[in-house]
Amino acid sequence: LAACGGDDADKGSSDSGDQYTAEKPLVIKFSHVTSIESVKGKAADEFARLVDEKTEGRVKVEVYPSSSLYGDNDELDALVSGNVHMIAPSVTKMVKIDPRWQYVDMPFLFENDEHVQAFFKSEVAQTILNSDQLAANDIKGISFWGNGFKHFSNNKHPLVKVGDFKGLKFRAQAGKVLESQFHALDAGSATIAFGETYAALQQGTVDGQENTFNNFDTQKYQEVQKYLSTTAHGRLDYAIFVNKTFWESIPSDLLGSVEEALAEATELANQLAADENEKSFENIKNSGTVEVYEMSQEERDALKEALQPVYDEFGETITKELIEGIQALKK
Ligand code: LMR
Repeated sequence: LAACGGDDADKGSSDSGDQYTAEKPLVIKFSHVTSIESVKGKAADEFARLVDEKTEGRVKVEVYPSSSLYGDNDELDALVSGNVHMIAPSVTKMVKIDPRWQYVDMPFLFENDEHVQAFFKSEVAQTILNSDQLAANDIKGISFWGNGFKHFSNNKHPLVKVGDFKGLKFRAQAGKVLESQFHALDAGSATIAFGETYAALQQGTVDGQENTFNNFDTQKYQEVQKYLSTTAHGRLDYAIFVNKTFWESIPSDLLGSVEEALAEATELANQLAADENEKSFENIKNSGTVEVYEMSQEERDALKEALQPVYDEFGETITKELIEGIQALKK
């Protein structure tokens, strides 16, 4: 961790970062699991570029993409211990700290991208981002970065009706809510780290998965999945989390620039998401290897009804405040 001593410790950051120069910069390690071509990868790299520009090289963001430093199984622990300073996980992976982050997995909770963006700016989103559970783990939540709606894919047959899911096994990101989602469809699931999912699909450890078009495309799942249905049944979105002690030790003259860069990168991430997912959807359709089934509203309604038990089982855990707060923001 950077110096955070003496009288300044109580006040948070010290005023001057004179000791940091372009030759000897303050290093912020930012670890994530997706490719540099993904929505998150592009926004993370832009954040690094903006920090460099705004601090004239006195702060250097080292971005470690594609689970190259830490993967799903250890990046959160690395953040808590300060071995990495910043992560941007799919929020459901925060379940280890606070089960409410699985709000994102509640089936058909969000109507469209506008609804999600309204949530990001809402008080209810700030409540979870500033929760005591995060602070107790020396984590500070800063902002939300959107990705997109998830869609189911698999290798056995087209997924059109609810019955088509029966007996298939899917890769899940984390947590009991997703397990319950697959259970409600009479399917099985296994929690597999993002970095190991391509191999699991290739080797047949699982038959299918759910992800955004952009993650599907930038992980080249076209090579290992045959059928994709546009179910848009759940969301995959991110939040930026930093190690609180580290963050508060950044001298305030530099912190201002870093926070400005982060606000700009956040805006970029949220602008990029829809476009990149749209482009990736075209890539998948043009791949020639994946049969894409575009679901009708009636078919999606049937899926929504079949997934209702997830609300019965997890409504209380996610909390009424969060679920109803999100529903009230529908555009
Ligand atoms: C996944 O595990 O499928 C995603 O959370 C990966 C990501 O970070 O987008």
